[in-house]
Amino acid sequence: MTERLYTVAATEWSPGCTAPDAAQATLALENGRVLYLPRLAFRLPINERRFLSPRFSDGKTKNISYDPSSGGLRHTATAGADRTALARMMARYADAAHALVTGLCPTYARDLAWGLTSYRPVDATGRQTSPRKDDTRLHIDAFASRPVRGQRILRVFCNINPDGVPRVWNLGEPFEAMAARYATTVPAQLPGSAWLLEKLHVTKGRRSAYDHLMLSLHDRAKLDDDYQRSSSAVRIEFPSNSTWIVFTDLVMHAALAGQYLLEQTFYLPTANMMDETLAPLRKLENLCHRPLA
Ligand SMILES: [Fe+2]
Repeated sequence: MTERLYTVAATEWSPGCTAPDAAQATLALENGRVLYLPRLAFRLPINERRFLSPRFSDGKTKNISYDPSSGGLRHTATAGADRTALARMMARYADAAHALVTGLCPTYARDLAWGLTSYRPVDATGRQTSPRKDDTRLHIDAFASRPVRGQRILRVFCNINPDGVPRVWNLGEPFEAMAARYATTVPAQLPGSAWLLEKLHVTKGRRSAYDHLMLSLHDRAKLDDDYQRSSSAVRIEFPSNSTWIVFTDLVMHAALAGQYLLEQTFYLPTANMMDETLAPLRKLENLCHRPLA
């Protein structure tokens, strides 16, 4: 479809990848390409298809979220047996996504840490939200409440739309170009602010200089109308029953349309990459001439 995608023909969630193929796929991912698996579907058995409805959302957030570490389910209006079955469906997706990443990128297996699992049953278009929260605007992912301190954010997406509706994304310019535009004018964190945010439980852990800079880049790009209008972007349609994997802290992206998406977040230590120099942390340290971890 485009050189932005690296297509993998796998049809199984546990692909047995041979060494040269795995290294090639892993490096493509680290270089900011999207690992695209057009033939990999996450099939729902008949008794789970009832979850293909926006009524399972709580109406306040775009995601129903599941925590694979605790088994907790949040942001859904459902209760009882439905709630248990929905959690089970999301847990199955979390396990499948983990098997996929460790199968395609075996060098990540040892230190890959679980993030949350998300299910988005609500249409991506027409949500009323502030520009900062508006994911139809080009952005890199950075989390306000969950500092990563340089760890990578790796996400596995699967379009489970039953009516053939694609998930439509824009992919923006390279990270370096966006960072060069904004990074050098971001003021440092106020002394003591990271400590205070942690103390007040606004953040889970201490926000690092890297987290502060990444959040600032996320906000500046999203709030810059001129940038959103004029920066280059490639439109990609991910068909229903396809899967894709992206380092969303590196790849400028915007989710324009689609409904019924599963997504699994993982965290990866920068030191665990095949080429650490490709990490946003190292790119920003080069640009700013100071350590940020
Ligand atoms: Fe995003």
